[in-house]
Amino acid sequence: MSNAIKIAPSLLAADPLCYGSEVQSVEYAGADLHHVDVMDGHFVPNLSFGLPIVRALKKLANIPLDVHIMVSNPDAVALDYVEAGADYLVFPIESSIHPHRLIHAIKAKGAKAGVAVNPGTSLTVIEPILEDLDLVNVMSVNPGFGGQSFIPSAVDRVARLKRMIESCGSDALIEVDGGVNAQTAKPLKDAGVDVLVAGTYVYGARDRKSAIASLR
Ligand code: DX5
Ligand code: ZN
Repeated sequence: MSNAIKIAPSLLAADPLCYGSEVQSVEYAGADLHHVDVMDGHFVPNLSFGLPIVRALKKLANIPLDVHIMVSNPDAVALDYVEAGADYLVFPIESSIHPHRLIHAIKAKGAKAGVAVNPGTSLTVIEPILEDLDLVNVMSVNPGFGGQSFIPSAVDRVARLKRMIESCGSDALIEVDGGVNAQTAKPLKDAGVDVLVAGTYVYGARDRKSAIASLR
């Protein structure tokens, strides 16, 4: 990916009765990736969608799928999502027992591998795997729901992660997820974010093209 900030609207905030036209609408508005939040009702309290939706989206989408699985058993199910069409497969570092093995299994299947790090998890846990990763999702809310308020400490975490990535020579992109809008995007960009996930702010906007433009 180039240095330009990528925008990944989160399908969680789309109208569930119209996923097809919703994803087409954000593509038209300039989205770079579709962020697809898979929730199992166990790792997070909420339940969202699973493999059938990912497969269906893959047939329709003209931009890559950024599949973020919030599940208790990523080691067991992540590769199913790669087979279903995930271009990026992002799993929670907190629930993976063998993250190094899983990252390499995802890559061996031809997808990009990412981990998500909750606001209460130290970034040091990903240090040993940083050079293996294609993406790190710095959660800026506690995962489980769209429409939550941005946790400001995410900005310093992005800056710190940026330094960690540079010092180990990793190519990993930094993604921020949760409560992103035109205001919260600003300091994140200064801190070095590469991918902004935005659910409510983009799908909830009357003019999605302007919403995406205002994030860039
Ligand atoms: C939260 C999800 C987010 C969520 C973001 O658990 O991982 O991707 O959809 O939604 P907003 O942008 O509304 O905070
Ligand atoms: Zn997400």
